[in-house]
Amino acid sequence: MKKYIVPSIIVSLFIVGCSTADTEDEENRQYEEEPVDEEGIEEANDVIEFNNVITVQGEPIIQNPENIEANVNLVNRLPVDYEPNDLVVPDVRRPYEGIQERSYLREEAADALEQLFYEAELEGHILYANSGFRSFERQYELFKNQQIQSGMDQTLVAQPGFSEHQTGLAMDVSSSSVNFGLTEEFGQTEEGLWVEDHAHLFGFIIRYPEGKEDITGYSYEPWHLRYVGTIANDMYEQSVSYEEFIENVKKM
Ligand code: DAL
Ligand code: ZN
Repeated sequence: MKKYIVPSIIVSLFIVGCSTADTEDEENRQYEEEPVDEEGIEEANDVIEFNNVITVQGEPIIQNPENIEANVNLVNRLPVDYEPNDLVVPDVRRPYEGIQERSYLREEAADALEQLFYEAELEGHILYANSGFRSFERQYELFKNQQIQSGMDQTLVAQPGFSEHQTGLAMDVSSSSVNFGLTEEFGQTEEGLWVEDHAHLFGFIIRYPEGKEDITGYSYEPWHLRYVGTIANDMYEQSVSYEEFIENVKKM
């Protein structure tokens, strides 16, 4: 397996990060970003170093990343070089037509997203797909930029390897009513409220719900949809996060 280390000169940049919180998240900014500089991550021995935190690389914690129920979170890491082999571009609206880089999803999730968008539109709600699959390297760039912009303790962007976007099962969605932004305000728009009430019918969950921040470890993200299949219904009915759902299942 390829392994990486972040050059210490880049890590030291994190320390320069300011503490001003931004109302927009990473995806709004990434429209202006330069393409990922692959040389920013170098092959190295057996550790990953981010933000002065060293993660020892052993066997990947998630052994079956292609499982649509794979729980990627603050603790459960994907293999560095994991990339799904069935990525497609769903036929849905995007705010940045022409740029396909952020548009990919795994086939099953893409089909479900198309159905969700179609049904939303039938009911008068126009949704846009902002950001789907991200490679480890792209997540690294976003993570680094977020640390610099919002400080070391930001809770919007996952460390590379720890992001659901690398599974190809997550899509960030938005609407013109919030200028296609990935902001908490989206959750209060008619589109965001519709998504909250209907996403489970298509196999998606709002992965980082309001009020569950201490459990998921991330800020409320009404825009971040994660495809999990039929268990989305159960989570919706129980009003639980993925972490709580898994704990409940273990107790049964
Ligand atoms: N915004 C979510 C946590 C991610 O970066 O994967
Ligand atoms: Zn997301």
